[in-house]
Amino acid sequence: MIKLNLDGCDAFVAEKEYGPWIDRALNAYDTLAGGTGKGSEMLGWKTLPTATPETLIKECEQVKALWAGKGVNLVITIGIGGSYLGARCAIEALSHSFLPKKDAPKVVFAGNNLSEEYLAELLDIAKLSNVAVIVISKSGTTTEPAVAFRILKEFLEAEYGKKEAADRIVAITDAKKGALKTLSGQEGYRTFVVPDDVGGRFSVLTPVGLLPIAVAGYDIRALLKGAASMQKTLSAKSADNIAVRYAAMRNALNSTTGRNIEILVSYNPKFQYFGEWWKQLYGESEGKDGKGIYPASVNYTTDLHSMGQFIQDGTRAMFETVIGIEESRRTVTIGNDPQNLDQLNYIAGKRVEHCNAMALLGTKLAHIDGGVPQIGLSIDHICEESLGELFYFFEFACGISAYVLGVNPFDQPGVEAYKKNMFALLKKPGYEKESEEILKRL
Ligand code: PA5
Repeated sequence: MIKLNLDGCDAFVAEKEYGPWIDRALNAYDTLAGGTGKGSEMLGWKTLPTATPETLIKECEQVKALWAGKGVNLVITIGIGGSYLGARCAIEALSHSFLPKKDAPKVVFAGNNLSEEYLAELLDIAKLSNVAVIVISKSGTTTEPAVAFRILKEFLEAEYGKKEAADRIVAITDAKKGALKTLSGQEGYRTFVVPDDVGGRFSVLTPVGLLPIAVAGYDIRALLKGAASMQKTLSAKSADNIAVRYAAMRNALNSTTGRNIEILVSYNPKFQYFGEWWKQLYGESEGKDGKGIYPASVNYTTDLHSMGQFIQDGTRAMFETVIGIEESRRTVTIGNDPQNLDQLNYIAGKRVEHCNAMALLGTKLAHIDGGVPQIGLSIDHICEESLGELFYFFEFACGISAYVLGVNPFDQPGVEAYKKNMFALLKKPGYEKESEEILKRL
């Protein structure tokens, strides 16, 4: 179970300053729990852990089995933003750092950028593999995944024929509308639905996350079980509720100490994409109306040798939220070397994870001394259940925190601005006026 430790904030936010933020977070809790706030039509994610039917889990497993029967060894998951980050984060956290998983295909991601080289190189590996595709777009009209899908659909049809290609494509999209929904109906693709009341960045526990994670060979029942236990934990409104305390402290740090950058820190490279998922969740949910805490992420001890200097000693604008992992599930012990030329015999017999834990503690003290407040979170070990807990915890806390900040956590109006300009520059039909205006500016 996730533990929260706020002692690293004691030197920055006094108890009497923190109290009013707890009150505000408890009010925001009521808004979120009661569905009375802005964007409350998008609260479907709150009950996903306990409301996901067994039939949906079985359908995900059927796709895995169908493709295993065809010998598929490469699954390309197409999607951008909330339509890929959750799956990518879970798969990277659960995977071996170097070896492929036995009895499961390699899952790679596309449609999250417009790089031609990336797609060309993806086709290089696709040509050497037995391929299937999961295409995910709630709106069904997002440019990046649409471009990647057009190219990969053409590849699959050329490689396997139109009928077999249709068996190797699964679409996850809106129940009723959008280009992807129409195309899937016409081509006979198997489809899964992104519920209307769940936004992209809150969708990891819908088929958007569940299907790629299941196909990659991981246990989505355990993921949902972990999320369900966190749903239960957070259902009690109280000043001890860890989502209330986390949301209250990050807002207190922002408002009373001017720390408006939050850095999510992990000490395990497998958590790099967890940072990416978390940044989107908090960035798109809170960064609006001229407000928000800017979400950043680092991976220690790696980034102590790149960003450590700035964090210790640069502009005092940030606080850290550290995800500690209490047990490593693998053991590597540092040996004794009679020559001791590297002078490491003082840690001979110790596990590498012990050194990592001491780095965490030492960094915590150094950063606090340097003026960086620290929120501590910890999980027992990396597994499906603990990831489920973390997903649900951060989503729920995000809803509370955004309401404390006074913004709608569930919209993203700012994402449209670049699209309008890009469509005008690409001369998309319907954008003639914008095209004329933008060309004058260049
Ligand atoms: O969180 C969000 O809403 C966004 O990041 C979307 O997930 C992203 O823009 C992709 O949208 P869509 O699934 O409609 O293609």
